[in-house]
Amino acid sequence: MNLKDKVVVVTGAGSGIGAALCRRFAAEAPASIVALDLDGERATATADAIIATHPGVHAHSAAVDVSDESALRDALAAVADRDGVIDLYVGNAGIGSGAGVDAPDELWDAVMGVNLMAHVYAARALLPAWLERGEGHMLITASAAGLLTNLGDALYSVSKHGAVALAEWLSVTYGSRGLHMSCLCPQGVRTPLLFPEGDTKSDASSDAEGSPDGGDALALSVVRAQRILEPEEVAEVVIEALGDERFLILPHPEVRDYEIARATDRGRWLGAMQRMQAQLEAISAH
Ligand SMILES: NC(=O)c1ccc[n+]([C@@H]2O[C@H](COP(=O)([O-])OP(=O)(O)OC[C@H]3O[C@@H](n4cnc5c(N)ncnc54)[C@H](O)[C@@H]3O)[C@@H](O)[C@H]2O)c1
Repeated sequence: MNLKDKVVVVTGAGSGIGAALCRRFAAEAPASIVALDLDGERATATADAIIATHPGVHAHSAAVDVSDESALRDALAAVADRDGVIDLYVGNAGIGSGAGVDAPDELWDAVMGVNLMAHVYAARALLPAWLERGEGHMLITASAAGLLTNLGDALYSVSKHGAVALAEWLSVTYGSRGLHMSCLCPQGVRTPLLFPEGDTKSDASSDAEGSPDGGDALALSVVRAQRILEPEEVAEVVIEALGDERFLILPHPEVRDYEIARATDRGRWLGAMQRMQAQLEAISAH
């Protein structure tokens, strides 16, 4: 996909990967970029940065909770009314929990709402116009956790596996009618999601401890096993992958090998993950 003169919507655009995607997309001269985020001020900051650096691109923003179907539908309808049919929708907003199966249902609902159901709502809202036109592009930011697992965060793992499954299902079902699906599955990326204290620059292992929302297990697990990319590096890989119409986008290419290992010998893979979990628990106990 070439983004020139296209209408692009990005959710979770006020921070991290979403903000970096908006900035990188702007360099491709789309007609407009719409930054949506729960945090309207941060979404506006993303749009303002685009206006300042790329005056030819129409940048807009809105505060939207993507887990609220009517709010998301209204926001997307407003974009279509103003800018025309959305060419590329990037469902990128996501949250972690650092929790296990004992988490209350409200937390499960919240994580599933943002990480999975928001993509269902977007598909419901966008597919009619795309199928009528015979073309539409959707990129879902899932995670390597959606292909493998995420130590310490059952809600994140399950919701991201659901997001990958949904992306595959949409591709299988509507690919022949013009839907181009992409699924972004990074491992660790230097953003506030992974470094909840807000210090995204400091050493990962010290940041990982003491996160206020229990995200320490999430951060620790990612940090221990992976190399951390900058959001700008992820955005660069996404641009390349969109150009190639690639479904699976792996900014950490080694994830492909992990997925192969998992598929080849599930028992061995689970054993390795159990050992990593034990190491994580030993560290957390100190
Ligand atoms: N950072 C990583 O290591 C990593 C790894 C793999 C996948 N991801 C995924 O990348 C995506 C972006 O995460 P990030 O790392 O940039 O995190 P981030 O916290 O920097 O950005 C997430 C953004 O989503 C917004 N958001 C949260 N709930 C929302 C809601 N209900 N409605 C609208 N916006 C909402 C937040 O306000 C925030 O601006 C997420 O889906 C995340 O799961 C991140």
